[in-house]
Amino acid sequence: MVKVAPSLLSADFRNIEREIKRVEKCKVDLLHLDVMDGHFVPNITFGPMIVEAINRCTNLPLDVHLMIENPDSFVESFVKGGSDYLTVSFEVCRHLHRTINLIKSFKVKVGCALNPGTPFSMIKPVLKKLDLLLLMTVNPGFGGQKFTPSVLPKIEEAKKLIQEHKLRTEIQVDGGINPETAKLVKKAGATILVAGAAIFKSKNYCRTVKALREW
Ligand code: DX5
Ligand code: ZN
Repeated sequence: MVKVAPSLLSADFRNIEREIKRVEKCKVDLLHLDVMDGHFVPNITFGPMIVEAINRCTNLPLDVHLMIENPDSFVESFVKGGSDYLTVSFEVCRHLHRTINLIKSFKVKVGCALNPGTPFSMIKPVLKKLDLLLLMTVNPGFGGQKFTPSVLPKIEEAKKLIQEHKLRTEIQVDGGINPETAKLVKKAGATILVAGAAIFKSKNYCRTVKALREW
């Protein structure tokens, strides 16, 4: 069954613990935390201190999505904050191999994200080192944006190669995922769906999570 990772970006930050408890009841798989620095993306969110506070509210694995420049300098603090998955943005990594090895040295799962405009071929050389490949389905920076259908062939391409090489790399999609677009990405090969607005702007979180999982 496809995994669901609610993105807290669209949650009510005045009541973050209550929001987390509400999605926990829906048996979600991961909690997706969007870290933005105002440089790589035109928005700023939070850093390791908030990740650590969120970690104290939940037993869900923390899926930390770093949309920051110079991620190597912050890997250790995000690991200490309780990250279970640490995903860096391909476009900022000048020495991707080194960054991946650094994350792995802390025994947490490593992910790499590709913007919609970055071709899959760029990540091929390191694919087998990744626990998670995040194929962005919007340009990163904001929640509630429209899904980019041109990413679908990239998901299929990734799935094909992962299967051919019998890898266990998860294919995560993030941006504009709702019960409708979920059908398309699952068909193409996505194994983890990140959803922010679709869940947190809905009346019934669990009904939305269930709808995301349905074919
Ligand atoms: C976008 C973030 C996403 C975002 C998704 O830059 O990486 O995780 O919260 O939000 P929705 O599901 O609302 O598009
Ligand atoms: Zn994200």
